[in-house]
Amino acid sequence: MKGLNPCGIIIFGASGDLAHIKIFPALYNLWDEGFFPDNFFITGFARTKMDDEQFRKTIYDSMNIYCRKRPIDVKHFKDFSKHINYLSMSYNDIKSYESLKTFTETKSKEYGMPKNLIFYLSTPPSVYQDVVEGLNNSGLASNKEQKDGFSRIVIEKPFGYDYESANELNSDILSAFQERQIYRIDHYLGKETVQNILAFRFANAIFEPVWNNKYIDHIQISALESIGVGSRAGYFDNAGIIRDMMQNHMLQLLSLVAIEPPAIFDADDLSNEKAKLLKSVRRLTINDVRNNVVRGQYDRGTIGDNEEALSYREEKGIPVDSITDTYVALKLYIDNYRWAGVPFYIRSGKRIKEHKTEIAIYFKKLPHSLFGKNSVENLEQNIITITIQPNEGIELKIGAKSPGFKMEIEPVELSFFYKSSFKGTPPEAYERLLYDIMEGDQTLFYRTDNMLISWKLIGDIINGWKSLPAPMFPNYESGSWGPKEADELINKDGRAWHNEI
Ligand code: NDP
Ligand code: BG6
Repeated sequence: MKGLNPCGIIIFGASGDLAHIKIFPALYNLWDEGFFPDNFFITGFARTKMDDEQFRKTIYDSMNIYCRKRPIDVKHFKDFSKHINYLSMSYNDIKSYESLKTFTETKSKEYGMPKNLIFYLSTPPSVYQDVVEGLNNSGLASNKEQKDGFSRIVIEKPFGYDYESANELNSDILSAFQERQIYRIDHYLGKETVQNILAFRFANAIFEPVWNNKYIDHIQISALESIGVGSRAGYFDNAGIIRDMMQNHMLQLLSLVAIEPPAIFDADDLSNEKAKLLKSVRRLTINDVRNNVVRGQYDRGTIGDNEEALSYREEKGIPVDSITDTYVALKLYIDNYRWAGVPFYIRSGKRIKEHKTEIAIYFKKLPHSLFGKNSVENLEQNIITITIQPNEGIELKIGAKSPGFKMEIEPVELSFFYKSSFKGTPPEAYERLLYDIMEGDQTLFYRTDNMLISWKLIGDIINGWKSLPAPMFPNYESGSWGPKEADELINKDGRAWHNEI
């Protein structure tokens, strides 16, 4: 990666979790690896009263817990933190934005740099509109990439609550910023293995010819977590897994595994292909929602050997009668030439037995077996597994002759693991995304049309649920693989979830 342009990064909601856990550690790592120029500044903007030194201390403390390069050397951090300031301001007061404008102008002059500004909205979504208005009214959101600098806005997820609210929020942002200034974050797109899906498919000649309904039986996409709702009860209980994971991360994974090759790897071409793909996903009717979507909520249980977990309804801040989904499994079809007839099984849940995010591509069974004892039925299918986490890599399951005098076939794996092939750790998702924002590269961010189509697809499910009877929650034990209905969803098609042991 090359060195970055001088810029000022303003983080709204800088007193919060995301700033401390993800954004600052990522900025520090980029700085530590020498990507930042000498002239840059980072400004925290939030209501909590703190001075610069107090703010820097909160950042230092959290970096020692969350930064991949911990422990952090105090003297080294001091060099970094000279670039950090904090403004205690109000989100809905124009004077705050006028002061911010003066502040950024002073800083830009002090550093002798163009007015390159990045506004990172790391607040709850209820604050987005105020910030966008403040930036617009104060002139901080200059409507174009000007000669004397740029303005870019970064929006965290969730981007809206449903199609209508997402559309409204988008229009508000578009009244102040142009599409090429907007960076909608889906941190999954910053993960190395997620980017590697495209490399695997399009940088190798051997996979693309079989990447279609002639050879592929079905595809499974799973994002399973052993953690529960944690401290995010207020947010999560309004969202559920359907909005928290499915609308964004899971549909983005689906897009990458199923899109047509873009002409080149750039933001526009990739977004065009993703939009085409998402438009081809078959919309779900109420019957599909009844038969092909399973929702679950976790009960008490044991995670690992001895972590006793509360049920979702017992978690702090969750209503005792909550019907929010902490697990969703569904079956989708993509109605296009490449994928006609291939089911995509997608699932995501919290408090599941194992933490793993993976895509498993199941190839069709052999038409005929030469090996007497190994009938077509008991020869395992070829499976490509792309593991996004925790053990990033790609495996291909093949049949091989087992040693001995008989011709017997056993499944074995051809494997590539990041850790062994590329020594060292890859940059974290937020490092990659922040680097790209500073570079002005939108390839790993999602465009308006992609975001809105995703909401339409997820809206079919949410609306379907409204007219179906309320589920009997809780319906799966913490530490299990999810509700039994999810097994039935895939078992009734003569298939099973990948690697449940
Ligand atoms: P927080 O709840 O910690 O909020 C961040 C800051 O926003 C707070 O410290 C607070 O600062 C300010 N704030 C302004 N208005 C409110 C309000 N009504 N209620 C609470 N805080 C308010 O959020 P996170 O840092 O966890 O997340 C920021 C954004 O990133 C959210 O949109 C979230 O959905 C998203 N996100 C978070 C992830 C995470 O792991 N935390 C993961 C993925 C996305 P002050 O009072 O000082 O102004
Ligand atoms: C976030 C969701 O976007 O992704 C969380 O809000 C979830 O609920 C998290 O835990 C998972 O991210 P990762 O990178 O740990 O897979």
